[in-house]
Amino acid sequence: MNAAPIGFFDSGVGGLCIRDAVRKLLPAEDTVYIADSANCPYGSRPPAEVRELARGHVRTLLAKGCKMVVVACNTATAAAIDALRAEWPDVPFVGMEPAVKPAALQSKSGVVGVLATEGTFNGRLYRETCARFAKGVTVVTCVADSFVALVERGELDGPEAEAEVRAKVEPLIAAGADHLVLGCTHFPHLAPLIARVAAGRAKVVDPAPAVARQVKRILAARNALNSSGGSRHEFIRT
Ligand code: DGL
Repeated sequence: MNAAPIGFFDSGVGGLCIRDAVRKLLPAEDTVYIADSANCPYGSRPPAEVRELARGHVRTLLAKGCKMVVVACNTATAAAIDALRAEWPDVPFVGMEPAVKPAALQSKSGVVGVLATEGTFNGRLYRETCARFAKGVTVVTCVADSFVALVERGELDGPEAEAEVRAKVEPLIAAGADHLVLGCTHFPHLAPLIARVAAGRAKVVDPAPAVARQVKRILAARNALNSSGGSRHEFIRT
């Protein structure tokens, strides 16, 4: 089991930032990554549809012998993680949660901006995270589905990408946000551009390193860490 790979899936290439953070922290692990580009974007799909897609990816990853599944997508986590855990109680799942907590703790202005998809904002997980961790802090939100298309096209900079990022980020900063939470795994790919647009006025909060630490904690607790792999990284694109 220890030598088995860690499985990841997302609606496209976004979740690669999560996989890469895991690879950085756990270089002796093998990985399998599913980029469901054929069905991208997930953000505006009904949750039941995202759930069905997620179940299919989990079946594929388990058939490939994965010892853990990282739902490297905020939208799919919001729509499906409870159902996945119920269906496969023996499989450890790690999901995404917008990093509202660290942003709220560090905010000096008392205003935190969150960028995510419609599906994430509509989910129970997001509401609960804000209710638990954003007490006394104002959370301003922005549906930034257009960032997903930019990242899928590999357009991480340039006039069009910058204009799009500016249109989403400026209102959050104007509302007083001094932290910008990237609540979609596609968005860290645009982090350098977002940081440039924010120009020191707000800090960009990337959840990937915290997710990687959670993967490590769970595998360590199950004595399932690998010490001899790290050379096999499969990438499946639908
Ligand atoms: N990367 C995804 C997320 O974290 C989904 C983006 C999309 O397909 O809309 O929410």
